[in-house]
Amino acid sequence: MTPVSVERDGALAVVTISNPPVNALSHAVRSALEQTFKELSDDDTTKAVVLIGDGRFFVAGADINEFGKPLKEPNLPGLINFIEATDLITVAAIHGMALGGGLELSLGCGHRIAARGARFSLPETQLGLLPGAGGTQRVPRLIGLRRTFEMVTSPKQLTTEDALEVGLIDEVVELDALKESAKALAISMIDKPKRRVGEFPKPNPNPEALAEFTKRYQKDRPGQFALAQAIQSVAASAELPIKEGMKQERERFYECMKSPERDAFIHAFFAERRCAKVPGLEGATPREITSVGVIGGGTMGAGIVASALLSGLSATMIERDQDAVSAGRDRVMGILKGALKRGKLKQSRWEEIEAGAFNAGEDYTLLSDVDLVIEAVFEDMDVKKQVFAKLDAACKEDAILATNTSYLDINEIAVSTSRPGQVIGLHFFSPAHIMKLLEIVEGDHTDPTTLVTSFAFAKKLKKTAVRAGVCDGFIGNRILSVYRLAADYMVADGATPYEIDEALRNFGFPMGPYQVSDLAGLDIGWATRKRRAATRDPKERYVTFLDKICEQGWFGRKTGRGIYIYDDENPSGKPDNEVLRIIGESRGNVSESLRTFSESQILARYMAAMVNEAAKVIDEGIALRPSDVDVTFLYGYGFPRYRGGPTHYADTVGIKAILDDIKKFAEEDAFFWQPAPLLEKLAHEGRTFAELNET
Ligand code: CAA
Ligand code: NAI
Repeated sequence: MTPVSVERDGALAVVTISNPPVNALSHAVRSALEQTFKELSDDDTTKAVVLIGDGRFFVAGADINEFGKPLKEPNLPGLINFIEATDLITVAAIHGMALGGGLELSLGCGHRIAARGARFSLPETQLGLLPGAGGTQRVPRLIGLRRTFEMVTSPKQLTTEDALEVGLIDEVVELDALKESAKALAISMIDKPKRRVGEFPKPNPNPEALAEFTKRYQKDRPGQFALAQAIQSVAASAELPIKEGMKQERERFYECMKSPERDAFIHAFFAERRCAKVPGLEGATPREITSVGVIGGGTMGAGIVASALLSGLSATMIERDQDAVSAGRDRVMGILKGALKRGKLKQSRWEEIEAGAFNAGEDYTLLSDVDLVIEAVFEDMDVKKQVFAKLDAACKEDAILATNTSYLDINEIAVSTSRPGQVIGLHFFSPAHIMKLLEIVEGDHTDPTTLVTSFAFAKKLKKTAVRAGVCDGFIGNRILSVYRLAADYMVADGATPYEIDEALRNFGFPMGPYQVSDLAGLDIGWATRKRRAATRDPKERYVTFLDKICEQGWFGRKTGRGIYIYDDENPSGKPDNEVLRIIGESRGNVSESLRTFSESQILARYMAAMVNEAAKVIDEGIALRPSDVDVTFLYGYGFPRYRGGPTHYADTVGIKAILDDIKKFAEEDAFFWQPAPLLEKLAHEGRTFAELNET
């Protein structure tokens, strides 16, 4: 079937792009469009063309699958220039979305008419690219430099109202009138001079806006290469005729295309979509979830309730006693007030919440009708089992019972109920109403309906869901506990926590691991270490400096002191000499074996520990595929997106190089640095993690 069809009606032709699911401008679409426009322009009876998309969108952009491979002719800028150059009157009829190359295609048309509710954006820099089909030249000719700088540096989508106001589109109509209105507009333009955006005057230069955006995004700053190129390309539109402007745009586009950042960004794009595909769920139908129960109104419980309420669900929170109920309620309302202030919650929804969409109490019978319950009480197996027994008795037969546990065995919880098939882990990240990641932990007994419903629920909450298997810490926290230990060992051997944090920030993490620990509370790790002390393998190296810091009552930000000192002048913390003294003391009499670690040595150990544990997690089926680990770290642990995630990073460095490092480190501590069998296998076969994503 051809992806482009033509309906002729006298002097008018309607050209429809049909390339499900999003009408991406693949090679087949570009070829068919070129052919169609050639034929129409050669045909004396056709004077005007309406260009429209089939399905949900006008066009969501270039076909991202083609990036990184040799681009085949006709290329998109050439096609758009050709459409613009013909004598045909052209009207783009836009519904749903016109993104990236889709918006650029519409700008090759003389006129743009949009259905109310359509969205417009130039999201290419989110893929490590810039709009490479005239977007940086034609858009500023319509809306000026500053607004174009804003568009190319942000994924924010313009509404039809915004787009009309700034002049990106000419008219807004209702969806059901779109095609007829576009046809009428096209016919009314037939005897008028052809409009070509490329022939519009150059935009006025705007040195202040250029300086502002150039300062914000710098070419040599990691992750910002494409952003800086896009700004320069837009700025050139004020200086150069369209032809030369497009030439420099194309050169910059190819520079971006070659960059490793582009590869990482696009890996992240597909990784995110791949993780929603869980084998075995193809035939399963999700249950409708409209109401949720949450047990516990502490840090996590309150965040989960807020997240559900912000997503339009009703929520009932259960706490231990009346005081805890009112404290939990205050926490939830505090979050919602903040959302209202920032415009994230509409006044009408706030009123609905106050009128009963949110309910809180002590009595489990309040949960008799909810569709799904999430338990977020203390991290203690006995307490959790007691809660699940009550839920099992109080909730309707088909309700799903979920736990937000960080580490505990979900199978043990499941078999303590009469409905193990409907028990699942829903592991939110703190703050739960903000963090995008949700680990969906499938137990041995979890049935497909429960799993597929949990994915649909995550989508409702606008979370990125990753399926995980049961183990201590699931995907994220299990890997975290290993690379954190690698960091602690480096501190014990001579590095400072401040050096480690700085190395990881320079790598692109928003915070270093010790800053994160201070934020979460050092007492959490302390409690875990005490709990595990009895079962710790005697061969495991144990370092004590964190325990000694905790013994001072220094638990991080909440106590004003942890690894860093927090005060009015240093709200984000400053290094503490006392901490360095405690670390020195905890090392004991080992000064001769102390050493310094360069930034690259810190990174090598930290990343090797992360990748090695990731390989174990994949091999054991805890993560379904390497890219699921990457999504977990991009959305839950601040891994820089322009590096793609731990397994993508490992592929770029080389699996063998990482394995060689691990073997070298194992000469000092063979217990900690045990190479993952999967890493050895991939290195031996000369394969990559990426190849496992395809299976
Ligand atoms: N190319 C190829 N495939 C695409 C695509 C694209 N531009 N956009 C989406 N898809 C695919 C997805 O991979 C997914 O495939 P599977 O079902 O096989 O997983 C499918 O379309 C549906 O996508 P989503 O699951 O994301 O659907 P959604 O409804 O949640 O979101 C969307 C739709 C808003 C269009 C979103 O997919 C999106 O943001 N797409 C990317 C848009 C974009 O970045 N466009 C610019 C491309 S770069 C460009 O155009 C460069 C240039 O200047 C030449
Ligand atoms: P928290 O201590 O802030 O809150 C726990 C709440 O549960 C308290 O308000 C307490 O009154 C209530 N509670 C205890 N027993 C109860 C019972 N029987 N019935 C009703 N309410 C009860 O703890 P937090 O941090 O919210 O953690 C909750 C769970 O979430 C734990 O399992 C934790 O491991 C997990 N988790 C925590 C994260 C974090 O960053 N804090 C992140 C992800 C998961």
